[in-house]
Amino acid sequence: MPVSANHPTVAVLLGGINSEREVSMQSGRRVMDTLSGLGYGTVPVVYEGDILALVEILRDYDLVFNMLHGGEGEDGTIQTALDQAGISYTGSQSRASRLAMDKHASKEVMVSANIPTATWVRLELEEEREFLKYQDYQPLSDFLTEHSFPVVVKPNGEGSTVGLTIVENASELGEALLVAREFGSQVLVEAYIPGREITVTILNGRPLPIVEIVPKHKSYDYECKYTDGMSAYHVPAELPLDITVAIQDAARRLYEALGCRHYSRVDFRLRSDGEFFCLELNTLPGMTSHSLTPMAAKAVGIGFDALIELIVKLALQDVVD
Ligand SMILES: Nc1ncnc2c1ncn2[C@@H]1O[C@H](COP(=O)(O)OP(=O)(O)O)[C@@H](O)[C@H]1O
Ligand SMILES: [Mg+2]
Repeated sequence: MPVSANHPTVAVLLGGINSEREVSMQSGRRVMDTLSGLGYGTVPVVYEGDILALVEILRDYDLVFNMLHGGEGEDGTIQTALDQAGISYTGSQSRASRLAMDKHASKEVMVSANIPTATWVRLELEEEREFLKYQDYQPLSDFLTEHSFPVVVKPNGEGSTVGLTIVENASELGEALLVAREFGSQVLVEAYIPGREITVTILNGRPLPIVEIVPKHKSYDYECKYTDGMSAYHVPAELPLDITVAIQDAARRLYEALGCRHYSRVDFRLRSDGEFFCLELNTLPGMTSHSLTPMAAKAVGIGFDALIELIVKLALQDVVD
C-alpha cells in the first residue's frame, strides 16, 4: 500500500538485549505490519544496546512506537533519552516506567494507594558472601515465620515470568534465590496467592474487560504465555459485577498512581473468597498474537488495527498538548 502523505512515519522499536527480546520481536513485527497496512510509513529499528546510536536513528521519524519489553526499553532509560532529544513515543514516560518495572517500588505505591498486594520482603543479594547468609537475614526469617509455604521467589525487575519459582518448602528456597539472582541483585519473596489469574488493560485511562487466564501450568509461565494451547482465556472473565468493578477500579487507580499514559496492563491474582491481589503493572504489554491487551480490546469491538492506531493517535496528541 502506498504511504499516504498525511500519515506520519513511525519507527517501530523492537528487540533489546534481555530475556524478552524474542517476544518484543514478535510484538514489534505485528505492530509494523499493522501500521504499514494502515498506510503509515514504517521502519523497524532493532535495539541492540547502544542508546546514543538509537537516539540518532530515531530523530528522523515523527513517532517511535515502542515495542521493547523489559530492560532499558521498559524501565524508563530509553524514555529519558527520548524525552531529552524531544522525540515522541508511545507508552508511559520515564518515571512511571521506572516505578512499574521495579516490583518492590510498585508494591509500595499499591500499599499507599490502598490496592491489595501480596505481602513480600525484598532481598539485596549483592555479594556472594551475603547471599550465602540469606538464612540469617532477619526480614526473611520473619517473613518465613509469618507465612507458610508455598512462597513465590522472583527477580525484582524481570518480566515474562523469567526467573520466578513457586517454592514449596524451605529446602527449595536457596536454589530459587539463586535462579532469581541471575537477573539482578534484588529479589522478592512473596506470599503465594492461590486462585485465579486475571489481568486488566487500561486504555487511555479507562479499564477494558477483565481477561482471565487458565494456564496449564501452576503459574502463568513463559511456555503458557507464548505457546498455542498452553492457556485458555476467558474475556470478559466470569466474575460477579462487584468484584469486576473493584478490580477494574484498582487497576485504573494504579495506572494513575504510577503516572502511566496511553495504555498499560495490570496483573492480579483472585482468591476463591473474592479477595484480589495486584501483582504488577506492565507499561509495555505484549502485542503478539497470544497477547492479552489485544484480546481485551477486541472484546469491546476494538480490533488490533484500531488499537494500534489509537495508541499512535494518543502519542501524537501528547505532542500537541
Ligand atoms: N504471589 C503470587 N502468587 C501466585 N502466583 C504468582 C504470584 N506472583 C507471581 N505469580 C505467578 O507468576 C506469574 C508472573 O508473575 P508476575 O509478578 O506478574 O511477574 P512477570 O513480570 O514475570 O509477569 C503470574 O502471572 C502468576 O501466574
Ligand atoms: Mg506479569
